[in-house]
Amino acid sequence: MLKLHKKAEKNSVLLLIFSLIVVSIGGLVEIVPLFYVKNTIEKVEGMRPYSPLELAGRNIYVREGCYLCHSQMIRPFRDEIERYGHYSLAAESMYDHPFQWGSKRTGPDLARVGGRYSNEWHVEHLVNPQALVPESVMPRYPFLLEKELKFDDAAEHMKTLRIVGVPYTDEQIANAKDDLYAQVDPEGDYEDMQARYPKAVVANFDGNAEKLTEMDALVSYLQMLGTLVNFETYERPVR
Ligand code: HEC
Repeated sequence: MLKLHKKAEKNSVLLLIFSLIVVSIGGLVEIVPLFYVKNTIEKVEGMRPYSPLELAGRNIYVREGCYLCHSQMIRPFRDEIERYGHYSLAAESMYDHPFQWGSKRTGPDLARVGGRYSNEWHVEHLVNPQALVPESVMPRYPFLLEKELKFDDAAEHMKTLRIVGVPYTDEQIANAKDDLYAQVDPEGDYEDMQARYPKAVVANFDGNAEKLTEMDALVSYLQMLGTLVNFETYERPVR
């Protein structure tokens, strides 16, 4: 054994081959079991796929690169929990493709920003952050108020997400377009939409009832972040 060791240490190619073998055994031991567990993410009550409007907002969030300055992952440390709320659960981003955990916090974490501010606050803040927080380095996004939301392919988008495992039902896909408009019309008939997407916030988010804008979508997304799981009744699974 010692002799073999001596040989390996003197021959770099041999050492490399042996190292690779050792590393791959370690890797296999960690990875293979995951293929046999049905689901490695604990299911948590309340989690549901995004409503079509929230999904559109999420796309804008990704398009505008909000994740470059904002994380969506509260770590299980006391300072984080005191500032942002309950630490993030894996299940809370199980329907995210791609996830928005982020890696840099120029601005605060947004994982639980939903319901913390009014819709008006968000609109004003996105149009001109410095009007509300003078020292803010966040860019302005006034064009979101002007740009009409283009999401004719909502159903296609949801079908694609279903392929990668988001459990959209046929009913949800068939009603994608109606649900998109139902969520910005508090005067209208939104019960069916809310039955399909519990806790979805219904509002005329940007204050302009004439037009469905990108601002409507983005604010609807921000307002649902972190609101789905009820942490008053949530109990950590005991193993
Ligand atoms: C250049 C970095 C940067 C980018 C890009 C950025 N932000 Fe911010 N954001 C900040 C900073 C800094 C703050 C804290 C000061 C403030 O409230 O403006 C902030 C604050 C916020 C807040 C308030 C959070 C809280 O808990 O008070 C929200 C909501 C927000 N940003 C959303 C967004 C969205 C949505 C986008 C993309 C459209 C975005 N931000 C892009 C830097 C950024």
